[in-house]
Amino acid sequence: MTKSILIYKYGGPEQMRWENVNIQSPGPRDVLIHQTAVGLNFIDIYYRNGTYSLPSLPSSLGFEGAGIVEVIGSEVNEVKVGDRVAYANGPIGSYSERRIIPSRNLVVLPDSLSDTKAASMMLKGLTSQYLLRKIYNVQSGDIILFHALAGGVGLIACQWAKHLGAIVIGTVKGYYKAMLVKSYGADYVIDYTIENFVTRVKEITCGKGVRVVYDSVGKDTFEGSLKCLQPRGLMVSFGQSSGIIPAFNVGTLATNGSLYLTRPTLETYINNRSELLTNVNELFDIVINKIVKIEINQTYKLSEVAQAHYELENRKTTGSTVLIV
Ligand SMILES: NC(=O)c1ccc[n+]([C@@H]2O[C@H](COP(=O)([O-])OP(=O)(O)OC[C@H]3O[C@@H](n4cnc5c(N)ncnc54)[C@H](OP(=O)(O)O)[C@@H]3O)[C@@H](O)[C@H]2O)c1
Repeated sequence: MTKSILIYKYGGPEQMRWENVNIQSPGPRDVLIHQTAVGLNFIDIYYRNGTYSLPSLPSSLGFEGAGIVEVIGSEVNEVKVGDRVAYANGPIGSYSERRIIPSRNLVVLPDSLSDTKAASMMLKGLTSQYLLRKIYNVQSGDIILFHALAGGVGLIACQWAKHLGAIVIGTVKGYYKAMLVKSYGADYVIDYTIENFVTRVKEITCGKGVRVVYDSVGKDTFEGSLKCLQPRGLMVSFGQSSGIIPAFNVGTLATNGSLYLTRPTLETYINNRSELLTNVNELFDIVINKIVKIEINQTYKLSEVAQAHYELENRKTTGSTVLIV
């Protein structure tokens, strides 16, 4: 038996229940981990409310966690019993005290990284890594626009992009978040709830537009984001915190200057173990060397995750949120 958060139907945070569930022995390539910390991510909200479909119901939620290896399957060679480990990319079901997970998804944590910090940065940090280094390899002097810059992915990406030499324009809601991202190095901050961000980006770039837009807000910003790009610029649409983007006319990419558009997922940017280890090493280096500081601004007990969902969904959080098991 273990304790797990389950949902029986899609809906609001109140659908999540803290219950006893049976746990099997791990298969030959699987591991049983005793989790100590779980990362909260906006994608958990999409699965909870039905924006994304779960394979079946009832289901647990969550993709990211850290803990200690308790039992390993007969063919596991990536980790051993007692290792401190973390993972970023599921499978879904991290909202649990104990869980079974394929060993190929786990990385062993260095002594300098606590479980809590690992659980708060794996998914957001690996996302920042592929956004800034793989989809487009950000170069010194590039002007980029990054929406929701005070969020979990946003604060990590802000610091990483500055380290790469980019000029970072960020959007946020409210004065407090604007001050926060400024303190993390953002060059320009736009409160897109009171200013027209397209007009401001054009002013900042003297009419030229930016090289890349990173847009995880979706419905409310998608159209404006395309207008912020230079000719042949790249639109990276990687989320939809404000709602699903309506169908759009592909011709818009032509009329806004032969633009490129991509809708990436972390899964396709880490599709084998060697890629996972390379990207994780890059992330760990940048955090251990204090180039990127992980800002854990909200901590809840896993059993109280409903409150954490409420806060994240209502734009009340900044940086990372971690759930302690
Ligand atoms: N494709 C991928 O590989 C991938 C991987 C990880 C995350 N993501 C996406 O990246 C985004 C950020 O994830 P995160 O976990 O770090 O979350 P987060 O940025 O900490 O939280 C989402 C932020 O979106 C902004 N937002 C704008 N309009 C909103 C609305 N109507 N409702 C709620 N929030 C709104 C809010 O910032 P302001 O109040 O400042 O506007 C809010 O803080 C999410 O869209 C997520 O799905 C994608």
